[in-house]
Amino acid sequence: MTSAGSDQDLRVRIADELQRARTRSALLTEAVDETELMRQHSPIMSPLVWDLAHVGNQEELWLVRDVGGREPVRRDIDDLYDAFKQPRRDRPALPLLRPDEARSYLVTVRDKVLDLLDGIRFDSRRLVSDGFAFGMIVQHEQQHDETMLATHQLRVGPPALAAPPPPPAVVSVSGEVRVPGSRFTMGTSTDPWALDNERPAHVVDVPEFFIDAAPVTNGEYLAFLTGGGYDNERWWSGPGWQHRQEAGLTAPLHWRHDGTEWGYVRFGRYSRLNLDEPVVHVCFYEAEAYAAWAGKRLPTEVEWEKAARWDPATGRSRRYPWGDADPGPEQANLGQRHLAPAPVGAYPAGASPLGVHQLIGDVWEWTSSGFEGYPGFTAFPYREYSEVFFGNSYRMLRGGSFGTDRSACRGTFRNWDLPIRRQIFSGFRCARDPRPEEIGA
Ligand SMILES: [Fe+2]
Repeated sequence: MTSAGSDQDLRVRIADELQRARTRSALLTEAVDETELMRQHSPIMSPLVWDLAHVGNQEELWLVRDVGGREPVRRDIDDLYDAFKQPRRDRPALPLLRPDEARSYLVTVRDKVLDLLDGIRFDSRRLVSDGFAFGMIVQHEQQHDETMLATHQLRVGPPALAAPPPPPAVVSVSGEVRVPGSRFTMGTSTDPWALDNERPAHVVDVPEFFIDAAPVTNGEYLAFLTGGGYDNERWWSGPGWQHRQEAGLTAPLHWRHDGTEWGYVRFGRYSRLNLDEPVVHVCFYEAEAYAAWAGKRLPTEVEWEKAARWDPATGRSRRYPWGDADPGPEQANLGQRHLAPAPVGAYPAGASPLGVHQLIGDVWEWTSSGFEGYPGFTAFPYREYSEVFFGNSYRMLRGGSFGTDRSACRGTFRNWDLPIRRQIFSGFRCARDPRPEEIGA
């Protein structure tokens, strides 16, 4: 049961989070002209204007109609913006709302949401307790904002976005961290805006392992590339090698070689490779091949989460590597403040108690795990959020990227994608089993 005072605090917080998401959606869609908003920049991405109206449509479905019980605003467009009914490749051919129509639709929906938020009680039913449905919609919009940022990265043309560079490295971070074997509480039953696939908290016995203190850098990845890593089948899994051949992979997406040196194109600007930054835009198969070449493997999802959340002093699982407080700019490179990963060693305040750095922010990190519900999983509020994706087709990514908002990033947050995908801001770090002489040392 929440009190009237704390209900009011939660209303203020929700309104602020909704506004923060909307400010970012506006920035990403006002940066380019109408023609570019309607254009499909890649067959695996939606036109930006589809994302924009889809965000409004989900807000209408969940908050205006379901939570608020109000009349539909635009029931006629539900099918157009249903991600399950409209494959991405087909979206540009749909009779989509034009940019000005989409924008005014979003304003109409948001006005109704703020109106119903004013009088809401957060203890009436599960969907609204602790403001869950509002939190889900905030995270949904922020997730589409990251998708729209990835569309901007795929777009061809003069730069449209700008941001200050990430902070420099202030400490030297290298090598591996030993994580002792122990029981570990994975997932959460209490984080109010955690999604169904993060629940419930459950205890897992995790044997001792080693994990890299930092994500794999461009410099390290370049050594794999120049050492012939893309040409040697022995480092690749069967499906990985097949994909490497069919897709003609020779370097991370967006890397360019000018005849002398490697660089990359970021949001329309070319620059030389920064060797100390985490590598980004690699698919799962590339991450897996690098790990094999390095004599290691990718961490499992539970290993990643234990490295990020386990407090060796108390055995408790934290919300984040540094504790339970929400991420600030000192702890992690999140929220599109910078449009690049920060060099390794830039966030000592964000390290875990065991000394694992930059788990949160910078780059999503591939793990070796497929997508399964935790023991006791129940779909909520709808099967299509997570459950329909369960199985071995996807690989889990953890930790968020520079493009992820803090509202959609926790130590428990789970992301998934196909192992061939690399338009996302994906990198990785390696792990390994202890050698016989290291066990319990
Ligand atoms: Fe969506």
